[in-house]
Amino acid sequence: MNKDQFKQLFADKAAQAFKATFPEAYAATGKKEVFDARFILEHLEKPKDPSMGRFAFPVFRYAKLLGGKPPDIAAGVAEETNRLLDDNAICTAEAVSGFINVRVDPTELASRTLGDVLSRESHYGDSDFGQNRKYLIEYCSANIAKPYGVGHLRSTIIGNSLRRVYKKLGFDVIGINYLGDWGTQFGKMIMAYRMWGEKVNLEKDAVKQLLELYVRFHDEARKDPTLDDEARQAFKQLEDGDSEAVQLWERLKTISLAELDRIHDMLGVEFDIITGESFLNDKMEPLIERLQKAGLTEMSKGALVVPLDDPNLPPCMLKKGDGATLYATRDLAGLIYRWETYHFHESLYVVGTAQSDYFKQAFKVISMLEEAESVPRADRMTGRVKHIGFGWVLFEGETMATRSGKVIFLEDVIDRAVALAHEKILEKNPSLDAIDATAHNIGVGAVIFSQFSVRRHKDVNFDWDEVLSFEGETGPYLQYTHARLCSLLRNYGKDITSKIDVALLDNVEERRVIELLADFPEIIEDAARTYDPHVIAAYLLRLAAALNKFYQRKDENGRIDKIISDNQALSAVRMVLVKSVQTVLGEGLYLLGMEAPEEM
Ligand code: ARG
Repeated sequence: MNKDQFKQLFADKAAQAFKATFPEAYAATGKKEVFDARFILEHLEKPKDPSMGRFAFPVFRYAKLLGGKPPDIAAGVAEETNRLLDDNAICTAEAVSGFINVRVDPTELASRTLGDVLSRESHYGDSDFGQNRKYLIEYCSANIAKPYGVGHLRSTIIGNSLRRVYKKLGFDVIGINYLGDWGTQFGKMIMAYRMWGEKVNLEKDAVKQLLELYVRFHDEARKDPTLDDEARQAFKQLEDGDSEAVQLWERLKTISLAELDRIHDMLGVEFDIITGESFLNDKMEPLIERLQKAGLTEMSKGALVVPLDDPNLPPCMLKKGDGATLYATRDLAGLIYRWETYHFHESLYVVGTAQSDYFKQAFKVISMLEEAESVPRADRMTGRVKHIGFGWVLFEGETMATRSGKVIFLEDVIDRAVALAHEKILEKNPSLDAIDATAHNIGVGAVIFSQFSVRRHKDVNFDWDEVLSFEGETGPYLQYTHARLCSLLRNYGKDITSKIDVALLDNVEERRVIELLADFPEIIEDAARTYDPHVIAAYLLRLAAALNKFYQRKDENGRIDKIISDNQALSAVRMVLVKSVQTVLGEGLYLLGMEAPEEM
């Protein structure tokens, strides 16, 4: 991945130091790899408190191997490492209990980091780690003919961000929207449409009217359960290609797709492929045959199932008693299809945590199939397919359910956020040029950022005041910080040059900002490793906070230490810092899927 020269240097020297300090243990051990620079590099940690050093190497795992206490091992190796690093070293080691903490020379860190950001601009943090390997990310995957709710919004926003993150890491990313355009709910919609459809005007507010049909169907079916049977039959007709059923389905689909397109345009979300469950219709039979041939299927109460060799997982059903296929049947066919088509490095399914067990089942079927067919390890997709779960989105503490009709329409959420942003701008900066466009960017940015306010496994509680505040830990706050930096750069008016004296950046506030800037490439990798853009969101908040401390720094006399002053050399180098933060904030917001307005 991104090479950090300080870490590389330390790892090389520490590896030598280990071997020199413990020559006998090194000669005797069968585990020589733990003395390699590469091993050390891979096991570096970040001290919780940045003042302890830029990175640290824990030595606890050597205690048994070397027959010593961790603090003594750390002390011995740190001393030897420093000797090897020699006097004017750019980093120094210090043993603190069982850790070797490493500090790096601040001027050296500043000159490398600022030089990098200035020369690479938005490409700072790019990596060629992906080597153009295929990377599939499925997100959104809304059910059409139902309103686009906040649950699918969270998938969309997480997936769209991961798509950008993995592109930055050099993968050939394919973003897939796998629409729920098949299954028994379409039987219900068809029935509802047949019964009450003539009253529906599909030209206006079509999705809301479809929802009414859907809710009405559920109400009536509660009173008259035969309706559910009829809906199942209607779906069977659809599967059998009955032309009236197919036509109705096409109609519902067109309406919903138009709605999705419009919302994704508003959000600035992109996909490379829009597909759906129906695409897999003709791919299920070959899959079922394969599973049967591999001896993995069984009849159970009239249904065709795959019993799973995991006591915690119920059998995976492939066909119901009436021969109808299921959601899982299509996903299995889709797994095979995507693997055969793309031979991906990894394939992600960004879907709510509620479906965790479901994905475990599906992936288990695949691994059993690959095992039964003795597919060579290197040709297996097992281990490469991943469910990326996330928690609920709560509005004032409550979830949304389509069936009860208590739905918050996504479009209404976005509209309201934009309207609130509009009000805020009129209050703060009424003379701003493009007010409408800026209000749109801020409103949408607020909605997007709210989804990253906590780790993806946690529930998000959506609170209007919180989400749109310009001061709290919000999207608008980050956008506002970015815009302030842009305005400072405009006021400065001079070129930002790399001919500066970075040694002038010598106070704690400036150094903290530089350390954070230097962290950015790693942060992107962490977000990728954990499949969680929250990592980037939290980092940007730290960066903005550090920047504000730098901004509001007071000198010895208690006066604000202005960034632009009569001291030209100091102003020039500080403006390089400003430019660098603006670049990283802008790129960070981009990775989250947000706009970074230059004025607001
Ligand atoms: N449409 C499904 C739902 O709303 C989500 C699809 C997730 N993706 C998948 N490959 N199963 O529940």
